[in-house]
Amino acid sequence: MTNAVASDLVESAEQVVAAQGVAKSFSGGSVIALQDANFTVKQGSFVSLVGPSGCGKSTLLRLIAGLIEPTQGHIEVHQTQVKRARQDVAMMFQRATLLEWRTAIENVLLPTEIRRTPSSEDKNRAMELLNLVGLGDFAFSFPAQLSGGMQQRVALARLLQTGADILLLDEPFGALDEFTREKLNLELLRIVSEVKATTIFVTHNISEAIFLADEVYVMTPRPGQIAKIVPVNLQRPRELSVQTSAEFNELVAQVRETLGAL
Ligand SMILES: Nc1ncnc2c1ncn2[C@@H]1O[C@H](COP(=O)(O)OP(=O)(O)O)[C@@H](O)[C@H]1O
Ligand SMILES: [Mg+2]
Repeated sequence: MTNAVASDLVESAEQVVAAQGVAKSFSGGSVIALQDANFTVKQGSFVSLVGPSGCGKSTLLRLIAGLIEPTQGHIEVHQTQVKRARQDVAMMFQRATLLEWRTAIENVLLPTEIRRTPSSEDKNRAMELLNLVGLGDFAFSFPAQLSGGMQQRVALARLLQTGADILLLDEPFGALDEFTREKLNLELLRIVSEVKATTIFVTHNISEAIFLADEVYVMTPRPGQIAKIVPVNLQRPRELSVQTSAEFNELVAQVRETLGAL
């Protein structure tokens, strides 16, 4: 028993993403998108990147995903240097980008089909994931028959179908109305804790960043950098009502101050 607890602690402290002195510039160095990023992300934790438009949030995600290379410094995922896109990291965007001529379950199966002919096990997994995101009854619906929020749920199931344990979400619910977004945020917390994923979530909404995260990386522009890392120790599972607590408002004030918005 004691051993099990001890090894759980070691496991939970494992660092799955580490960045050291990471910088990225574009246009021959004239645009510094990101400068001197240093951080480590613990296994199973939830990190929010918050900051105004153009501060380098998407650039940082693309660097972690291996879609672009740093100009300086290096990034490790699972203790190996990121050199290209990899199977343990998956990324999701603001638009669901579902294929219109495929049903929900056929869309979820896409990442599998890219690698192999889906087995009945793969199909069962896709169905399980659709149930997990609350769309079990819509597996055979086409994207045009689903609301924007439902389409993002399909995209989330597709993301999980990749089997990646590190999820990079770039303003995934940013195009949805506030009610739908709050509901999906709650579900996202339930889902990532169920599948034990490590999540890095980009948003420009301060409350949303805090509500979701174990740590908020506050980013400031020109040049883009992580100005502060704010730990969020609100207990889990979280309910929306935590946002009216004094503790929550104190965190909002801390983030705003760093952004120079107070
Ligand atoms: N491929 C690119 N070529 C040139 N400039 C880029 C490129 N990608 C991003 N940038 C610039 O880098 C900065 C950060 O962009 P981005 O990471 O998209 O910010 P955010 O996601 O926080 O809005 C911006 O000034 C943007 O114009
Ligand atoms: Mg962006």
